Formats: sequence, C-alpha cells, structure tokens
Amino acid sequence: MSRQPPLTQIPADMVAASDYERYALPRLDANALAYLEGGAADELTCRANLQAWREWALLPRMLRDLRGGNTRCELLGDALQHPILLAPIAYQHLFHADGERASALAAGVMGGAAVLSSFASTRLEDVAEAAQGPLWFQLYWQGNEQDTLALAERAEAAGYRALVLTVDAPVAGLRNREQRAGFQLPAGVRAVNIDKSVVLPEVAEGGSPVFDGLMAVAPRWEDVAGLCRHSRLPVLLKGILHPQDARLAMEAGAAGVILSNHGGRVLDSQWPAVRSLPAVRAELGEGVPVLVDGGIRRGTDVFKALALGASAVLIGRPYIHALATAGALGVAHLLKLLREELEVAMALSGCRELSCIGPDLLRPASAGDGKYL
Ligand code: FNR
Ligand code: LAC
Repeated sequence: MSRQPPLTQIPADMVAASDYERYALPRLDANALAYLEGGAADELTCRANLQAWREWALLPRMLRDLRGGNTRCELLGDALQHPILLAPIAYQHLFHADGERASALAAGVMGGAAVLSSFASTRLEDVAEAAQGPLWFQLYWQGNEQDTLALAERAEAAGYRALVLTVDAPVAGLRNREQRAGFQLPAGVRAVNIDKSVVLPEVAEGGSPVFDGLMAVAPRWEDVAGLCRHSRLPVLLKGILHPQDARLAMEAGAAGVILSNHGGRVLDSQWPAVRSLPAVRAELGEGVPVLVDGGIRRGTDVFKALALGASAVLIGRPYIHALATAGALGVAHLLKLLREELEVAMALSGCRELSCIGPDLLRPASAGDGKYL
C-alpha cells in the first residue's frame, strides 16, 4: 500500500490529538512508525504514561468572574501565550519533508516554544532562522566537556534561549518494537549537528560494553555543574524523576528540571513522570521551573499537570503525528486545539490564569468504592 501524501488543509473532522494519530498512520512507512511509536521492552511505561492522567479527576469551581482570563505564562524570562512546548524529537525528516523547521515555525506562530533535539536532521542555525518564537536546544553529553560546550555554544550563538541536558539515556533503550522492525535511518536523514561521534573506550575481554563502554563516557553530577558554570544559557535537566535528583540538579546550578521518562523509550517499568510532580515541587518550592512530559494528549491533561505543580508541559508524539499529517499547518492546528481545550478546562473550573490552577481542583479518580474515569 502506498503512503498517503501530507494534507495541505485541515479536514473538518480533525478535532483532537487522537485524530492526528489516525491521519498520520497511513502517511508514515513501517520504519518511521516503529521508531516513533515504539518504547522500551514491553512498552509498559508508554501505556502507563497515557493512563497516569486518568488517575486524577477534576473538581471544578463555579460562578467566578473569569473576564480577562488567559493561558499566558513566563518561562526563563520569555513570555509565552500558553504552557505547551514541543519536546525534542530526533530526526524529524523521517516524518515530513519540512522536518524540524516546520515544528519550530508552528510553535512560534502559536506563541509557544520548541526544544530542538541534538539529533535533529536540520542544522540548528537553519531551524533558528525558520522559528518565530523562543527555541531551546536539547543537549546530549558529547563524551567530554569540550565537545559538549562547543555544541552548546553553537546553539547559544544561533539564538537558542536555554539548554536542555537529557540525562535519562546514557545507554540507548532496548526498543524491541524497533529491533523487530529492523529500524534504520534512511539515506539522507542523519544527525547533521553532530560533527564527530563520541569515541567509546575499548572494552577489555570479559568487560561490560555498558559499564566500561557507554557509562565510561556518560555525564556525572560534576559534569552538570561544569556545564552550568561554563554556559551563559540556563540549563534544564530532562529525565529527572526522583525528588533527590531534582535537589541535586539545583545544587549543580540547573535553572530547572523536566520530569520525564523519555516517552517510555529508555527504561521500561519506570513510573509516569506526573507522579513525581508533587514531591519535586515540594522539594524545590515555588518559582523554580518544573516541566513534565509523557502521555499528554488533552487540555485536561495539561490542566492536571499544572494543578500538580508543573510550570509548563511538553508534548512529543502528538505533534509528530500532526507534522506527518500536514506539516507546520498541522502542528500549529494541534497546538490551537490543545490550547483551546486548556482554556475550556480553565473556564469550566473557575480559573482565570494558570496560577489559579491548584491541587484543590483535583481528586484521585478512584476512591475506595470505584473508578470515576
Ligand atoms: C523522543 N524523545 C527525545 N528526547 C530527547 O531528550 N532527545 C531526543 O532526541 C528525543 N528523541 C525522541 C524521538 C522520538 C521519536 C520520540 C517519540 C521521543 C523524548 C521526548 O522528548 C519526550 O520526552 C516524549 O516524547 C514525551 O512523551 P510523549 O508526549 O511522546 O508521550
Ligand atoms: C530517542 C533518542 C534520540 O528517543 O532520544 O530516539
């Protein structure tokens, strides 16, 4: 069966993120689909990420004066129209000919921000040129401080506003779905911003390729501290789940944390990041940027994240579905849908501003006698 081409108009029945998933499937080949949808091992964490948002039910307030309400927020000094960022997703030319440029353009046009992956398939300078709003650069540690800083400085020179150091994947996840599909990057799609690949040490006979190879060049807390010291840009750590790691991130000089299990792609059986939110917020106090991702598919999920203490959220696969379906137009429209869903959730819960969304508006969705959602 041949792949369907991207759309140039948004059909009238495109009303939710799940509709973009439905439209994207026939537009992607088996290779790209296995890479996009797959998670580690049995994909328990992928499924748990989706389910986690249903563990909370809304307990809305009525009859408040909500005139002048809005979804605006400020992150690291930038004013945004809404708190829904595009997560870093590698190799976007797998999904649409316009790749990362289209996603960045759409995020900016909709008044939001996007995070570009270290493994982007477009030069970071070209993405910056296409963007209409703030961009952050996701950094993978390049085996040593010098090469890592060189990449960070390139991003800074191109106008990126923050660095997002991803710390949850020093060893690639065992993504069985991808392995079974024999996933390979097609010719012409590669990580164009990485000039030299990380050199792994020789593993002695009987040694472990994981511990003596990959983990020997993986970053440690002192490297994070060095990066934070040497970079002029604020550094956020992505992939934090434990409240004690959130504390260590602050002590190392990070500007904030992104709670994430990498969309269930690295270590299966991790718990959903949303469950770390209350404890991390309590540990770090108000004011420190704490973002969360994984399984966010509805404006009500965004609302729940904010109620549990998040400053903002990131979405991953949903915007790639929109990109595959209709390029920048699709991504912009998806962001519009999610933002409208958030506005409606706020209006119907009595919240004028994001700061009004608090834990008093949530209850566990199952309470002794049964499950509500
Ligand atoms: C990712 N993610 C990711 N994260 C990161 O820090 N650097 C990267 O290059 C990538 N690449 C990547 C590729 C693909 C295909 C996926 C699906 C994910 C993880 C991503 O930023 C984010 O944490 C999750 O995608 C969020 O979960 P949802 O929204 O996809 O459920
Ligand atoms: C992934 C890597 C690139 O999740 O972060 O595919």
